[in-house]
Amino acid sequence: MTFNRSLKIAPSILAADFANFGAECEAIETQGADWVHIDVMDGHFVPNITFGPATCAAIRPHIKGVMDVHLMISPVDSYIEAFADSGADVITAHVEATPHIHRTMQAIRASGTKAGIALNPATPASSIEYLLDMVDLVCVMTVNPGFGGQKFIHSQVEKVRQIRSMIGDRPIHIQIDGGVDPTTAPLVANAGADVLVAGSAVFRGGSVSNPAPYGENIRNIRAAAVSIEV
Ligand code: DX5
Ligand code: ZN
Repeated sequence: MTFNRSLKIAPSILAADFANFGAECEAIETQGADWVHIDVMDGHFVPNITFGPATCAAIRPHIKGVMDVHLMISPVDSYIEAFADSGADVITAHVEATPHIHRTMQAIRASGTKAGIALNPATPASSIEYLLDMVDLVCVMTVNPGFGGQKFIHSQVEKVRQIRSMIGDRPIHIQIDGGVDPTTAPLVANAGADVLVAGSAVFRGGSVSNPAPYGENIRNIRAAAVSIEV
């Protein structure tokens, strides 16, 4: 996984057919996805439950590119090894999930995986100031985590700008998660984001047997994000 700031679309399989993850991952990659975003929820840190490391390991052979695992779980440290072993390229944990997030980032990097730090909408950019030299990705949540299909929270665009300026020349991705569609994508891309997660806006209208709408949806988000009009 080499670093660059070019725009990447990362469909979230939270909006896929849960009985068909392997085929869904193959379909979105064929249709132009850059990364595959995997949402892990525990019913404790967030009010919803999805799946764990065994499912990630089962999905892995169906993904050629980057497997991006977003952990919405607490506690988190005791599960890092299992998610690293499942074949994740990036593991992202929440700054709100533990009082010892610095240790968590150390543990992710020690597992040989790229380390991501996620911030809920109420969490200020300053909360990650002392983590920037130990992370590979900052995930700015533009909805409250737990569910797909929610409305983009516009106050987060300013936070993206702040984080972009804090990062400076460091090789750190800025990822946006929640409510990304062709309307909101240009706002965050213009503020400095390079990885756009999108669930409902990618999977809407398509299926494994009719994957062309996935491609059209991905192209529409990408085209909107790289346009200069905001
Ligand atoms: C929310 C998840 C997101 C979600 C995005 O807790 O982390 O990845 O799937 O879904 P949309 O794009 O529908 O807002
Ligand atoms: Zn996510």
